[in-house]
Amino acid sequence: MSGYVVVGTQWGDEGKGKIVDVLSEKADMIVRFQGGNNAGHTVVVNGEKHVLHLLPSGCLHPHAKCIIGPGVVVDPFVLLEELAVLESKGMSTKHIYISDRAHLIMPYHILLDQLQEEKAGANKIGTTKRGIGPCYADKYTRWGIRAHDLIHFDAFQKRLAYALQLKNEQIVNIYHGTPFDLEELIARFAAIRDQLVPRIIESVHAVNQALDEDQLVLFEGAQAAMLDINYGTYPFVTSSSPTSAGVCEGAGVAPQRLKHIIGVVKAYSTRVGEGPFVSELHDEIGTYIREQGNEYGATTGRPRRCGWLDLNVVKHACILNGLTDLVITKIDVLSGLKELQVCVGYKVNGAVLDYIPSAVSDVEAAQPIYRTFAGWDEDISQCKRYEDLPKQCQEYLSFIEEYTNTRISLISVGPDRNNNIITHALV
Ligand code: IMP
Repeated sequence: MSGYVVVGTQWGDEGKGKIVDVLSEKADMIVRFQGGNNAGHTVVVNGEKHVLHLLPSGCLHPHAKCIIGPGVVVDPFVLLEELAVLESKGMSTKHIYISDRAHLIMPYHILLDQLQEEKAGANKIGTTKRGIGPCYADKYTRWGIRAHDLIHFDAFQKRLAYALQLKNEQIVNIYHGTPFDLEELIARFAAIRDQLVPRIIESVHAVNQALDEDQLVLFEGAQAAMLDINYGTYPFVTSSSPTSAGVCEGAGVAPQRLKHIIGVVKAYSTRVGEGPFVSELHDEIGTYIREQGNEYGATTGRPRRCGWLDLNVVKHACILNGLTDLVITKIDVLSGLKELQVCVGYKVNGAVLDYIPSAVSDVEAAQPIYRTFAGWDEDISQCKRYEDLPKQCQEYLSFIEEYTNTRISLISVGPDRNNNIITHALV
C-alpha cells in the first residue's frame, strides 16, 4: 500500500469529506496536511449528519490513526469543541493526534482576519474569518507559535509575549482595535493545555513509518486547486497549498510515496467568497442548482455562487496534482435540467485559452466557451451501476473523462455513505 491523496479540483466544497469517509474504512492512518477550520466537511453516516471543520473527515473511523499534520493551522479551542461534539455522540476520539509542528491559530489571528477584511472594503477576499491567513503569515514571518510550544509552556509564554507585542501594535495602530492582554491569553491556554498535550506527537516519523510498513495512509485535502496560494485566482485564494505538492510539504512525505491521487469534482461549479468565476450562473438555473444541491457554506452558512462545470478549471487541477483518478459528486443535483453546459475554454481579449491565466484581471475578463449536453429527468440517487444511469448522464461523464484524460473511479449520486457507483476500485 502507499499514500492515497484526496484533493479538491475546483473551489472547495466538492464533497471530499464523503469520499474520504468512504475510503477511510480501509485506511490505517488519515492525515490532514493543510488549511484549518476554514474547511467544512459534511459526512452523513447512517442518516446522521456530521459537520467537521478541523478534524479530518476520516476521524469518524476510530480504527484508523488520525493526524492533524504539520502543515495545518490549528485553532485549539475549535479542536476541543469538535472533539467534545464527537464524544457527546458516544464516539471515540482517542485516535486523534496533532503534529507538534502544526502552527496554532491564536485569538489575535482571528481578530486580525476580521479587521483586515473590514479595512479592505471592496478589496476584501471574503475569507472565512477563522484566522487562517494571519496564522500562515506569522508562520512565514517566523512569529508563529507551534503545538509543541504547548508542551514546553515556558517557551510558549516567551514566544507569546514577543508575538503579542507585535500583534497588539498592529491591532491598535493600524486597525484601532482592542489589544489582547498577555496574562489573560496565557491563562486561557493554561486552562486547555492538559487536554491537548497528550495528543501532540512527532508526526513525520509516524507517517513515514506507516508508509514503510505498507499501511494505507490517506492524505485528506481541504479547499481546492483554485484556492491554492500559488496557482489559484490570487489574491482570492486561501493561504496554503491544497494540492498533492502540499501533501509533501504539509505532511513531511516525499513525492514518490503518493501513488493514488484522487481529485474530487463536483458535477457543476460552486464558489464562496469573492473572486472570478467564469462559468457562474446569475439566473434561475443557478438558483435551481443552489437549492437542489443545498449549496450553503458548511462553515459560514453563506449561499454559494453556482455555475456550470468548468473543465478548464478541472484540467488545471489534473495538471497541478498529477491526478490518477476522478471522483464525481452531486451529479444527482443536475437531474431535471433540460440542457447542461460545460465550459471547455476561455476567450480572453480575443484569444482562446485552454489553461487558467495567472492574472486575476484576465480571469475576470474571460468569457466561457461552452459545449452543450442534453439533460435527464430521472432521479438517479438509487443507481448502483454505471449502466443504470440515463444515457445523457453517461455522455456527460464520459466527456469529463475524455477532456481531462483521467478515469472516473467513483460517482456519488446522493449524500449518504452508500449512494455511490464504483467504476474502478480505489482501495
Ligand atoms: P480563508 O481560507 O478563510 O482565508 O478564505 C480565503 C478564501 O478561501 C475565501 O474565498 C473562502 O471562502 C475560501 N475558502 C476557504 N476554505 C474553504 C472551503 O473549505 N471551501 C470553500 N471555500 C473555502
